[in-house]
Amino acid sequence: MSTLSSGKTIGQYVLEQPALSKVFGNLGIDFCCGGKRPLDEVCQEKGLDIAEVLKAIEDATNTSDTETMNWQAASLSEMVDHIYDIHHQYLYEEMPRLLQMTQKVARVHGDKDARLGKLAEVYGQLVSELTIHMLKEENVLFPYCRELETAKVQPKFHCGSIANPIRVMGLEHEQAGSLLETMRDLTDGYTPPEWACNTYRAMLAGLKDMEADIHQHIHEENNILFPKALQKSDSLGG
Ligand SMILES: [Fe+2]
Ligand SMILES: [Fe+2]
Repeated sequence: MSTLSSGKTIGQYVLEQPALSKVFGNLGIDFCCGGKRPLDEVCQEKGLDIAEVLKAIEDATNTSDTETMNWQAASLSEMVDHIYDIHHQYLYEEMPRLLQMTQKVARVHGDKDARLGKLAEVYGQLVSELTIHMLKEENVLFPYCRELETAKVQPKFHCGSIANPIRVMGLEHEQAGSLLETMRDLTDGYTPPEWACNTYRAMLAGLKDMEADIHQHIHEENNILFPKALQKSDSLGG
């Protein structure tokens, strides 16, 4: 059980209690790229009442579902398999469907809200960047992680230390996080206007789910997989 303390970082809360990712997601608090920041600082910046947020954390902790896996104990290859099977596959399936929907809603309803065109554009950018990003992980970083797991001496990587691809992936995660934040702003936190048709509503629901999945995905890479890989690499003499 975690000790409630508003000065603790958001990433630490989610590492100790993975189910809290939902609480933070619902409050629009970034627990992946912004996970290193203390909770009280982020609440202040977002105008959230820290007492209410701590209460929501306490409630979620007390009713925590056991389905949310604690990946801290997993091996490097188990983590990589899970990220690929669950998060990458989800994006490969869902990204094209939502791309079509964002374009259609912008075309049909763009005259009522000009932000819909911008949303389709920003989402299109997210899809292109994530597609390249995931290929880099699958072709470079994930095989390195698997190799490291069983290595007795530091493996030779063509891009030097594993810290190099990890740094690049971290920067790309920040970029994805900032595109998601723009999308949240453009959609009033994925809230449909009264006049929204079913496609519009389904698009917002799909984008909101995708935001939650990407946040969880990046959290697992930034706060679990990458530190684990760096630690193993350091133990082999950097
Ligand atoms: Fe990934
Ligand atoms: Fe990633």
